[in-house]
Amino acid sequence: MAGRRTLTIVKPDAFANGKAGLIIALLESSGFTIKAARVMHLSTAQAGEFYGVHRERGFFGELVEFMTSGPCMPLVLERDDAVATLRTVIGATDPSEAAEGTVRKLYAESKGRNAIHASDSDDNAALEAAFFFAGTDVLAR
Ligand code: RTP
Ligand code: MG
Repeated sequence: MAGRRTLTIVKPDAFANGKAGLIIALLESSGFTIKAARVMHLSTAQAGEFYGVHRERGFFGELVEFMTSGPCMPLVLERDDAVATLRTVIGATDPSEAAEGTVRKLYAESKGRNAIHASDSDDNAALEAAFFFAGTDVLAR
């Protein structure tokens, strides 16, 4: 059965543009409940580790530079079928391909600077939540 938790990040572009509140409102109106949240400025080492799966990709340096360019906002979110639902709500990686009403269609500037991250599997959601939050910082229910 699909899990009820996922991890999102309001990325530095959206946070700097003052869109965090609007994005979180959209996530809440999509049925998600916030279980943990913080504001932080990622180090180069943290951004590189978080997106380590993309280490060999041509855009990796640009991605790390972007993710360390200013504060971001990681959150643990909960609802039924959390991972798949959030991927639908955020839209395609490239905002020019994102569906109307999605976070990236509304707030992303480009494929690189695309406003929001969302976990792509239940396993990664658990790993990514543990990357940003101690167990005691995530509401149990
Ligand atoms: P995310 O992990 O941030 O939720 O994004 P995603 O699953 O939609 O896309 P993914 O393939 O995992 O790529 C991670 C992030 O790398 C940047 N990217 N830039 N310039 C490019 O061609 C390019 N491709 C990917 C984006 O910030 C993307 O969200
Ligand atoms: Mg991804």
